[in-house]
Amino acid sequence: MCGIVGYTGKEQAQAILMEGLKRLEYRGYDSAGIAVCNEEGMDIRRKEGKVHVLEDELRTSPATGTSGIGHTRWATHGRPSEINAHPHQAGHITLVHNGIIENYLQLKEELTRSGHSFTSETDTEVIAHLVSEIFRSEDDIIKAVRKALKRVEGSYAIALILQSEPGRLIAARKASPLVLGIGEGENYIASDIPAILWKTREIKYLEDGDIASLDNEGIRIYAEDGTVVERKTTRITWDPVMAEKGGYRHFMLKEIHEQPRAIADTIGPRINEQKGQIYLEDLGISADKIKGIRKVFILACGTSWHAALVGKFLIESLTRVPVEVDIASEFRYRDPIIAKDDLVIGISQSGETADTLAAIKEAKDRGAATLAICNVVGSNLTRETEGVIYTHAGPEIGVASTKAFTTQLAATYLLALHIASTKKLLSEDLFHKHISGLKHLPSLLEKTLETETEIEKIAHDFSKYRDFLYLARGINYPIALEGALKLKEISYIHAEGYPAGEMKHGPIALIDDKMPVVVLAPPDALYDKVLAGLEEVKARDGHVIAIVVEGDKEISSRADRTITIPKADPMLYPFLFSIPLQFLAYHVAVHLGTDVDQPRNLAKSVTVE
Ligand code: AGP
Repeated sequence: MCGIVGYTGKEQAQAILMEGLKRLEYRGYDSAGIAVCNEEGMDIRRKEGKVHVLEDELRTSPATGTSGIGHTRWATHGRPSEINAHPHQAGHITLVHNGIIENYLQLKEELTRSGHSFTSETDTEVIAHLVSEIFRSEDDIIKAVRKALKRVEGSYAIALILQSEPGRLIAARKASPLVLGIGEGENYIASDIPAILWKTREIKYLEDGDIASLDNEGIRIYAEDGTVVERKTTRITWDPVMAEKGGYRHFMLKEIHEQPRAIADTIGPRINEQKGQIYLEDLGISADKIKGIRKVFILACGTSWHAALVGKFLIESLTRVPVEVDIASEFRYRDPIIAKDDLVIGISQSGETADTLAAIKEAKDRGAATLAICNVVGSNLTRETEGVIYTHAGPEIGVASTKAFTTQLAATYLLALHIASTKKLLSEDLFHKHISGLKHLPSLLEKTLETETEIEKIAHDFSKYRDFLYLARGINYPIALEGALKLKEISYIHAEGYPAGEMKHGPIALIDDKMPVVVLAPPDALYDKVLAGLEEVKARDGHVIAIVVEGDKEISSRADRTITIPKADPMLYPFLFSIPLQFLAYHVAVHLGTDVDQPRNLAKSVTVE
């Protein structure tokens, strides 16, 4: 999410910052801004829209100065607009930020009580005011930044510039990427290497908790405890295009690996463990309305429809409210029966899918309350619905959806818990069990990412087959559908997902020694039935690739190939199973040499019917 760049040296900063922002635009593009420091003070320019809108303004009236910071934004808190664009200023402090401050409302209230007034809806402005407040009594900026950041919960990468010390930049990070670039008589800050790779290949990676001070003479880095530390300098040999992908070969692979972070950003700020509450900031639907919901409809297309199918399981099992899931393009033409006390949810990564938009309008016209689960702040869908739960996946560039999908699952899970707790359906213990499971999910996902090496080998061996079947049951059946869709989209291999129990009703006729069957086998009540289905496949010479859970014996001993994922709460398996299936599709496609990020005939958002 969001791109950051900073420069201090002898050249005019504007040109370097703007070039850096153009190279970071893939990280966010709803507004952009720079702050350049000169003898007269801080020149801050911000514009809604892509980087070129800001560039047009600067062409006619340039900002002069030899140090500055820049930002291209992917909105998380506050709609895309000029007032929400970075940099944000408070007193002598001007800064840009990438990440999510989970306790920003609490800090904002506190700072407002001390006389600070805020001009934006962002969480970032809170950091500027907090540093400024502490800097009043603490004349060392490094100490002030450290004290401020100790109060901040969440993730951040910041670049800060001081009016009182032109030429000096401060950088800090925790759980969001930030690197420093070393030049001759000049130094750089960047959220991602491509921003500065055209200027320097000498990079220092900041570690969590580090704070750095840069000027044109050098860089000094302080560890979290305040001691000065040396961080290794690495020479970057990637080409610039590769650098945009963070060193990954494709955006899709980068996005698969980003899922632990994306899930943490989607759930972290919304869970208050102490109070046992789910906080959905833009829900827009009152507690009374939630208590009276008769039925939920979820409308979506493609991968988002698969998230909706998982959502049905989550919402029904936690809230006992019946859920109907519709493919958006079918819903609007089937004369649906909707009542005023129904809740209709549209799920969409882009928020621009024509069919989903039209279906939501149809539901609205019929008087239902509407809610979006969406990744793009300010998109059409979010403007159409009464409320929204944003997935904080960050920009998804690969056409095949990966991190947007699992964050949609996370958002739906949070909604189910919110409805259940509003209706007082969950005991305190059960509620805490779900919350702690969700909090633990990013680390389980990290562990699941370790399956990649094994899957790459399997992909290599199986890419010669022309058809695949994916089988699962219950809450994981939609993941079989999603796994099959991923393979189809990027490798052009025919694949189908089936509920394992349906095999005997037709698809088993397809099984022979040319049919790989991917089986998802969690240790649940249906395990033995999945095992029986596997035996039926084996008896007909099919090849079984089983995805099992740590400790599995029966299925692992019968499958041709096995991938093992960590043990988890049953409601978390849809998240964990998604990762090996994404890897399988990805590595088969790479092996076949297709265009992974932009597969043939497809578009990232389908804005026509
Ligand atoms: C996912 O891999 C696909 N590219 C596609 O199915 C996508 O999920 C669908 O077009 C819906 O898009 P949306 O989430 O932006 O509405």
